[in-house]
Amino acid sequence: MSRLCMQPNLVLNTQDIGLRLLASDLDGRKWRDTMANFASGVTIITSLDELGNAVGSTVSAFSSLSLDPMLLLVCLDNRSRTLGHIQRQENFAVNILSKDQKEMAFLCGSKSNDKFDCIEYVLGQYGLPLLKNTCVSIECELTAVHDGGDHKILVGKPLSLLQTDMQLPLIFHKGQFI
Ligand SMILES: Cc1cc2nc3c(=O)[nH]c(=O)nc-3n(C[C@H](O)[C@H](O)[C@H](O)COP(=O)(O)O)c2cc1C
Repeated sequence: MSRLCMQPNLVLNTQDIGLRLLASDLDGRKWRDTMANFASGVTIITSLDELGNAVGSTVSAFSSLSLDPMLLLVCLDNRSRTLGHIQRQENFAVNILSKDQKEMAFLCGSKSNDKFDCIEYVLGQYGLPLLKNTCVSIECELTAVHDGGDHKILVGKPLSLLQTDMQLPLIFHKGQFI
């Protein structure tokens, strides 16, 4: 149970510090706008469907998780079709996009059924789709799935890496690619 309580009198001068809001003032849109202040890289998380076709979703909610053991995490919306495929397949690849791959981010951020008709990829050592010209692509074994509100938190253990020449990363900030 939280032991935090509101202490409105502790901050005497609020004029210089910006807009103060309580969580009860927020709706989904304001919360999304708040989180959009955090600049992130952009990934496409890929896996395979039942027929062995490439599937994937654009994901900015990606992070390193642990060094020993080596683990990473990605957060996927419960409505993501890619999520279902990853849970069945029990593996996925993280493709960290380079600055010229904005179009792919748009495409895999959509509900198109033929995302991989115009995206070039190779199969990695563990058979997962690795996009070409990314900063790095990482094949992972799915080691845990945790509930996180309307998302699932997927924990992955790296199996293989594909790193091309030095590429600058694609950055997403306040709803824009930089
Ligand atoms: C820049 C960007 C970042 C996104 N980040 C996430 C994310 O972190 N998690 C997520 O579930 N969806 C994220 N999305 C939305 C999914 O890419 C989108 O819902 C996609 O249609 C899912 O496709 P699928 O249903 O085929 O898996 C993002 C989209 C964009 C364009």
